[in-house]
Amino acid sequence: MSEGSWHLRPARPDDHDFLFKLNATTMREHVERVWGWNDADQAAFFKNRFAPDRWQIIQADGEDVGVLIVEETSEEIYLAEVQIVPEWQGRGVGSSIVRSLMNDAAAAGKPLTLRVLHVNERARALYERLGFRPFKEIETHTYLRWEPPNRTTSR
Ligand SMILES: CC(C)(COP(=O)(O)OP(=O)(O)OC[C@H]1O[C@@H](n2cnc3c(N)ncnc32)[C@H](O)[C@@H]1OP(=O)(O)O)[C@@H](O)C(=O)NCCC(=O)NCCS
Repeated sequence: MSEGSWHLRPARPDDHDFLFKLNATTMREHVERVWGWNDADQAAFFKNRFAPDRWQIIQADGEDVGVLIVEETSEEIYLAEVQIVPEWQGRGVGSSIVRSLMNDAAAAGKPLTLRVLHVNERARALYERLGFRPFKEIETHTYLRWEPPNRTTSR
């Protein structure tokens, strides 16, 4: 399998434990710095948010290696979450997935947007390298947007 090669499968209810662990592994350090991490609160928060019918599992080399959550509206394609297990980080999968969403956004004639925690500087660097630009700041996050080339904005 070539570097950065992946595919998606729909998430299932029994992916809960894998996805909870993935969230803890990949985001705990950042969550701790911003809000603090409490196991019980995080478990409850995750359970409440878990929506397997709308989430996708990233697979590489026949293994489950991450999660992807994308929400499309009439205005935009919103990349709500991408998390990859540590062993698969830095191997091109994340960039390849974001590029594929950029292709979808270009085909749909809509911007691709996302948000990133201020403390997650490496992820932000990746998005900026791919051409995303900041358009909104809140206390915890920066919102970034990529506009397809030649998109005529009516607003
Ligand atoms: C961010 C992430 C999706 C990128 O996917 P990836 O497959 O690792 O990325 P690629 O191999 O295509 O590109 C490498 C770049 O990704 C970013 N990256 C790699 N590991 C990262 C990590 N643990 N956390 C944040 N960004 C990371 C860096 O910018 C890296 O470039 P660098 O090595 O020059 O610093 C993935 O690393 C990840 O799941 N990180 C932890 C969770 C996270 O931060 N998700 C994003 C929330 S907005």
